[in-house]
Amino acid sequence: MIELRNVGKTYPGTGRGARKKPFTAVEDVSLTVAEGRVLGVVGHSGAGKSTLLRLVNHLEVPTSGQVLVDGQDLGALSGRQLRDVRRSIGMIFQQFNLFRSRTVLGNVAYPLKLAGTPRAQARARAAEVLRFVGLEDQARRYPEQLSGGQRQRVGIARALATSPGVLLCDEATSALDPHTTGEVLDLLRRVNSELGITIVLVTHEMDVVRSLCDEVAVMSGGRVVESGDVYDVFSRPRHPVTEVFVRSALQDVPGEAAWERLRARHPGRLVTVPVARDTAEPDRLSRLLRAHGVDFTVAHAGVGEVRDAPLGSVTLELHGDGADIDAFLAELAVPEKAGV
Ligand SMILES: Nc1ncnc2c1ncn2[C@@H]1O[C@H](COP(=O)(O)OP(=O)(O)O)[C@@H](O)[C@H]1O
Ligand SMILES: [Mg+2]
Repeated sequence: MIELRNVGKTYPGTGRGARKKPFTAVEDVSLTVAEGRVLGVVGHSGAGKSTLLRLVNHLEVPTSGQVLVDGQDLGALSGRQLRDVRRSIGMIFQQFNLFRSRTVLGNVAYPLKLAGTPRAQARARAAEVLRFVGLEDQARRYPEQLSGGQRQRVGIARALATSPGVLLCDEATSALDPHTTGEVLDLLRRVNSELGITIVLVTHEMDVVRSLCDEVAVMSGGRVVESGDVYDVFSRPRHPVTEVFVRSALQDVPGEAAWERLRARHPGRLVTVPVARDTAEPDRLSRLLRAHGVDFTVAHAGVGEVRDAPLGSVTLELHGDGADIDAFLAELAVPEKAGV
């Protein structure tokens, strides 16, 4: 559905000020997103995520490489053809970007108006997508009269109005509180599962990735440093940037300061045991504890769901005879957490 081939974007320098020198925001990125999939792009601020997203619909024209959507090389299209392709790619933003002076219905109908759809037909379609996002009763209100979550749902309705095959989301939930974020993510999940729309979603929140995405690409310094199936990347992060994002989402291992407090509370021997979907035998841990006569206190735990499978770890303070604990750890084959 979407294919990026060695795509790069270098902004020319302005010769003055902060953007004096040329700057490469995206460098040599190759990615494929199959139809109906959800790709999350994560990275710290300035990593090049928004630029990458804007390259997908040629809002930014790449300075190297190619962007193909539905097999069409966007760089080879005429202005008119490019406008048609853009109409098949919806986009939503962190700040919603709604017209204050237009009603909710007017905002949602706007892209149809641009496309030359007759007014009655545009309004009927707008009402239809507003129903899909659960805001049919807000059609005559203005964006300012709505909550942040409702505004983003209007943004989604507007993006869906032209029946796109792809939806691009740039930090769509970053301005929302956790509860509202959950509602918007639920809606995006329906956009994908019920309408079959392919989604590329840019975020700095790994939680968003783990609850919504099939695949993830991690960006750093304009490059994709790691990508793959969400569960695989979460369970075996390879790049240090990925590691930071994954740990912040799973929160399964205490941070450095938290380790010190934990140590003070639990002066005994500690072990951190991973929990994952491919753990061959789910109750192996309790079996080994029993077999060696070792007891425990849970010192820290973080096990949650990533794409419907468990992932995380649990840190135990072990109680019992020293030799029994040694034998238990040897059979568990997980290294003991080093002493204070
Ligand atoms: N028009 C521009 N001219 C020069 N540099 C830009 C321009 N737009 C973005 N950049 C720079 O490109 C880098 C990546 O920006 P962006 O894609 O917005 O990152 P992200 O969305 O990951 O925070 C930033 O350092 C930014 O300052
Ligand atoms: Mg951005």
